[in-house]
Amino acid sequence: MNNNPIGVFDSGVGGLSVFSELIKLLPNENYIYFGDTKNMPYGNKSKEELISIATRIFDFFESKNTKAVVMACNTTSATVYDILKEKYNFKIYPITQTASKYIADKNYSNVGVFATNATINSHAYQKSINSYNSKINVFETACPTWAYIVENKLQNKPENIAEIKKTLDKMRKNNPEKIILGCTHYPYLIEILSTFTDKNIFVDPAKCFAQHIAEDIKYSNLENKTKDYEPKFYVSSNPEQFSISSELFFKVAKPQLIDISSI
Ligand code: DGL
Repeated sequence: MNNNPIGVFDSGVGGLSVFSELIKLLPNENYIYFGDTKNMPYGNKSKEELISIATRIFDFFESKNTKAVVMACNTTSATVYDILKEKYNFKIYPITQTASKYIADKNYSNVGVFATNATINSHAYQKSINSYNSKINVFETACPTWAYIVENKLQNKPENIAEIKKTLDKMRKNNPEKIILGCTHYPYLIEILSTFTDKNIFVDPAKCFAQHIAEDIKYSNLENKTKDYEPKFYVSSNPEQFSISSELFFKVAKPQLIDISSI
């Protein structure tokens, strides 16, 4: 069991912000990363579509005998984790729930959340943070274009920088002590965001999430002690663009194209 793979997925390169932290803490695991670029952006999809997409991905990982699956995607963690979590025999780690607990443990008064439409409409961050700590005011803002901007490496276009600034300015009116980057694509924007305000205001959940997973894998005696394989990277479309956009967190030179619907 210990040398069975760990599956990691997202709609694209966003999950690499998590993967790059995870591989530091659990370097010997046999990773399978799936970037569902054909279906991105997830944030503009309905709950029914997201259930069907996530089911296909979990079935794919099941066919690879994964011992655990990392939902390096807030949109599916927020909307479909609760529905699918009991259906599989492997461990499933959702990012939104771990990040919420981490934030709730701090004594903040005002916390902002930037995330996709689907995540914001689910209010998963607000509900989850307030279930642990009802004193925190949670201000949620949807950023519907940001994941697409990152996936296509368009973040340096002046009109995109202007839009990012406008959204940030609006959020700052709430006086947040922290702003959660509640979509795994958004840490790719940290440089741009921090030209307008102090970098330390932003929380990238990747670190606390990877830490939580590593502790749980070790505690459950599931850790792989010897390195057997290099990580495998799959995408559902456009491997070239994935490779170009990947480099900030983990340069993936040659992701393999795969059609998981036929598996
Ligand atoms: N990176 C994902 C998330 O954390 C999905 C972004 C998208 O495809 O809209 O929400």
